[in-house]
Amino acid sequence: MIIKSTIDRIMEATDIVEVIGEFVQLKKRGANYVGLSPFANERTPSFTVSPAKGIFKDFSSGKGGSAVTFLMELEKFSYPEALKWLAKKYGIEVEETVESTENREEENRRESLMIVSGYAAKFFHESLLETDEGKSIGLSYFKERGFTNDTIKKFELGYSPDQWEAFTGQALKDGYQEEFMVETGLSVKRDNGSLYDRYRGRVMFPIHSFTGRVIAFGGRTLKNDKNVPKYVNSPESEIYHKSNVLYGLYFAKKAIREEDNCYLVEGYADVLSVHQAGIENVVASSGTSLTVEQIRLISRFTKNITILYDGDAAGIKASLRGLDMILEEGLNVKVVLFPDGHDPDSYVRNFGTNGFKKHIADNKKDFILFKTDILLKEVGNDPIKKAEVIREIVESIAKIPDSIKASVFIKECSYQLQIDERALLSELNKMRTAKARKDSQQQQNTRPAPVDEPHFFDEPQERVEREDATQEKEIIRLLLLYGNKVIDWDGIANTYIGPFMIAELSDVDFDYPAAKKFTEIYRREVENGVLPDEQYFIHYADKEIVDLTVTQIATKYTLSENWYEMHKILVPDEQANMKATILGAIFHLKKHKIGKILEGLRKELQTTSVEADQEILLNQYMHMKKVEKTISDYLGSVILK
Ligand code: UTP
Ligand code: MN
Repeated sequence: MIIKSTIDRIMEATDIVEVIGEFVQLKKRGANYVGLSPFANERTPSFTVSPAKGIFKDFSSGKGGSAVTFLMELEKFSYPEALKWLAKKYGIEVEETVESTENREEENRRESLMIVSGYAAKFFHESLLETDEGKSIGLSYFKERGFTNDTIKKFELGYSPDQWEAFTGQALKDGYQEEFMVETGLSVKRDNGSLYDRYRGRVMFPIHSFTGRVIAFGGRTLKNDKNVPKYVNSPESEIYHKSNVLYGLYFAKKAIREEDNCYLVEGYADVLSVHQAGIENVVASSGTSLTVEQIRLISRFTKNITILYDGDAAGIKASLRGLDMILEEGLNVKVVLFPDGHDPDSYVRNFGTNGFKKHIADNKKDFILFKTDILLKEVGNDPIKKAEVIREIVESIAKIPDSIKASVFIKECSYQLQIDERALLSELNKMRTAKARKDSQQQQNTRPAPVDEPHFFDEPQERVEREDATQEKEIIRLLLLYGNKVIDWDGIANTYIGPFMIAELSDVDFDYPAAKKFTEIYRREVENGVLPDEQYFIHYADKEIVDLTVTQIATKYTLSENWYEMHKILVPDEQANMKATILGAIFHLKKHKIGKILEGLRKELQTTSVEADQEILLNQYMHMKKVEKTISDYLGSVILK
């Protein structure tokens, strides 16, 4: 865990306008900055940053939070990742507590592997640009393929000299440990224990992690020898799990988000050429067939995938089944074929950016229709084959979670397959029922899944009725806004509003989970002699709390205006009459809770036939009624006078 004082230093150094400004173009407007939402497609800016409070609020998507939560949402960082990103930006050294020696060691090992990979990338890159061999062999190859200096630099392309120990020797000399050189696969151990270079005489493509660190390599041979593997890739290691990585994602994620689409190609060269042509939302699965993890990686940024195939029919057919997985994840899949002999790399080089874009626009097909097309071509007049195709297509459609979308496909495919829509639908329903049965069986066999920590940006669940949530959130808003102000009304002296409210509310059960948590934190801090303020909650480590805080600060008076309106109470200016504002909120909430208790008692009374029970209930009911009356009278006297 990152230690508290480091977190404090990061928070102090962080300028939210500066941080968000790296991702969003911000313009000053009054005390705030505004820009176009990076989370939604909008034309008029509704994304607001308040430097004074250190928060942002996006009115399009409803998201909001601190600089840390912004990075978590946009870049999909974890909490510590976001903190480390900020620490790096502001040159702050991160101190972490030792969790357990085991954890620590594992973390250190991973770090060592990344460090040696980064070192190797630099070594290969320099040997490409600065050595005679690199320049004459590697660099001239890249130039011949049309890669510009900018591309070569951005992707840190390199060259590994055609010698047995060029890298290994230098790395050892620079003090890198054998263990990590071998685990990353940069060096290979001979039987006699000595090491040699894995990639000799190859051009090098470093593979970057999600956060931009080098974690692996692909090395391409420059020989035309059939016996030499074209690519040699890093082995799986503690830092490189092939199935979790997409080549180019680090450089593509911003564009993927902006374009709301991700192009998926096959090779390193395709990524580089397409990216260089200004189409930056492109990634490659690098030779392996696409995995669920890779799809989930993409789906953090967009729900739309466009697969760019080169025209090799056998390869396409083989991959069709794998694509159902993308449908299952709820993503929209489009497919574009390139003419025989062309891949995205060669096509974009031959026809330029516009030609490439036009080809995609003219040829992109929805995956299901594409699949239907391909399979139908083989059917001819064979009815049995046709039945198989129908089955297979409906199987794909059954994987689409959105049933409206599925029914649209049923319609289109019925036309394409020339088969009655109802027949397809009944087939679809059969599969769905079978699947549901299977799923429920599986669920019974497995233990309940662990409950995820609540998601920061999810809308608060509608578990609690709106009225409850509104009133409870109003309490939070007042705590945030006025909690550390001194009470200025009669009879009470030297007390702060926050602790006063918390004490007054000690008999109230909060139903809205975030509000419950918030008041508990507040109470705990007050008991420790601390008066938590806005900033305390904005930088709280729990996303749910940060979200609630920011929403309440950003919502300003709108909520309470509605609320007072709802109760036909006039409060001209809540600050002018603090007593009415604070006590009004507290007692309205109490009154509402009592109303609910009364309702419960009423229901019980109706269903109980035992006389003794009835009497007890009736007594409780009368008592509560009295409390309700007292509160009502009190509310009337405090607020309406
Ligand atoms: P390609 O053969 O299409 O490679 O394989 P490419 O990147 O387009 O290379 P050029 O254009 O011939 O230079 C597609 C991807 O499959 C993986 C690599 O990730 C490659 O980019 N691959 C291919 C391997 O891992 N090993 C191989 O031997 C071949
Ligand atoms: Mn290629």
